[in-house]
Amino acid sequence: MFVTNRLVKWGFFLVALSLIPAAMAEKYSVVPPEGSYDGKNVKQPIEFPHYIHVKINKINCMYCHTYARRSKVAGIPPTSKCMGCHKVIATDKPRIKKLTKYWEEKKPPLWKKVNDLPDFVHFTHEKHLKKLVFDRDYPVENVKEVCAFCHGQVENMTVDRKVKPLNMGFCVRCHIKNKKLGAPGDCWKCHK
Ligand code: HEC
Ligand code: HEC
Ligand code: HEC
Ligand code: HEC
Ligand code: HEC
Repeated sequence: MFVTNRLVKWGFFLVALSLIPAAMAEKYSVVPPEGSYDGKNVKQPIEFPHYIHVKINKINCMYCHTYARRSKVAGIPPTSKCMGCHKVIATDKPRIKKLTKYWEEKKPPLWKKVNDLPDFVHFTHEKHLKKLVFDRDYPVENVKEVCAFCHGQVENMTVDRKVKPLNMGFCVRCHIKNKKLGAPGDCWKCHK
């Protein structure tokens, strides 16, 4: 009798426990945005292959785009970061020779913008990543799946291009679908 009582108690306890993750998953589930865009390749000072770095060498997006988690902008890594590896890696390749020349002459390559919002739109990486990654304990090694909401599968790109519309409809529709997570609908939140 004593044993079965305990079993029943534990049974309830375990069932309750197993419901917590389900409830969390419900609370933190994100509806990905819809829509695509066919952006053309942008001519960059050095053709930078995301594919080789992310897909083949498994470098995390936020290792290079370090500001994404703590500021408005994600930022482009400085040449010093590239040289941390390329002082020794692939030094015989023409593109790395070009990179090394920029480094030695202390002239940063002028990377051209690929995704660009008009100045009257307010956007911040920090807030989005906090909500879409860190607050829901999403594994940071998979952060590229969240970047992909707004930038597509950059890991497969040999030259980065714009593949999501990033227009008002795109942003607003995702905000409506993710209202539960606190995504605002007011005009003034995105326009100042
Ligand atoms: C909710 C949409 C969204 C998500 C998620 C997102 N971005 Fe962005 N990203 C944008 C928008 C919009 C711009 C253009 C911003 C502008 O022009 O003001 C941008 C611009 C950028 C830029 C250009 C430099 C800059 O900061 O303006 C980089 C690099 C970038 N994003 C990387 C990332 C990485 C890496 C991740 C994932 C860790 C990520 N983004 C997640 C929407 C997003
Ligand atoms: C953590 C190390 C690391 C960092 C940081 C890094 N790279 Fe690389 N990069 C690699 C590796 C590994 C390869 C593949 C080399 C090979 O295949 O021989 C590579 C390949 C390349 C190639 C292709 C070379 C070719 O022609 O085959 C280019 C271009 C390149 N990197 C540019 C850059 C630039 C620009 C930066 C800075 C924004 C950078 N890399 C930062 C590790 C790194
Ligand atoms: C080794 C460093 C490195 C890694 C890792 C890396 N990037 Fe980049 N990223 C760059 C450089 C350099 C540029 C500028 C050249 C270009 O636009 O092709 C760039 C450009 C971008 C842009 C375009 C910026 C703009 O002007 O709009 C986006 C978006 C972006 N990266 C997203 C990502 C995402 C998502 C990941 C992970 C899947 C990632 N990056 C991983 C170095 C890196
Ligand atoms: C995945 C769907 C999704 C997409 C796509 C998206 N957002 Fe958001 N956005 C959110 C969520 C969720 C929040 C709530 C963040 C919070 O409350 O911390 C948010 C918050 C914001 C905020 C409020 C930030 C603050 O300071 O309180 C602004 C502004 C914003 N988004 C602008 C944009 C713009 C502009 C775009 C399009 C370029 C965009 N968002 C695309 C989900 C999205
Ligand atoms: C989630 C963010 C978001 C919200 C909320 C939002 N907008 Fe926008 N809005 C944008 C973005 C992003 C653009 C830039 C579109 C582009 O570049 O194509 C834009 C562009 C505009 C434009 C310029 C249109 C054009 O054709 O150039 C107007 C006007 C505008 N919004 C008004 C509003 C009004 C009014 C509201 C409230 C009913 C509102 N917006 C709510 C993100 C938002």
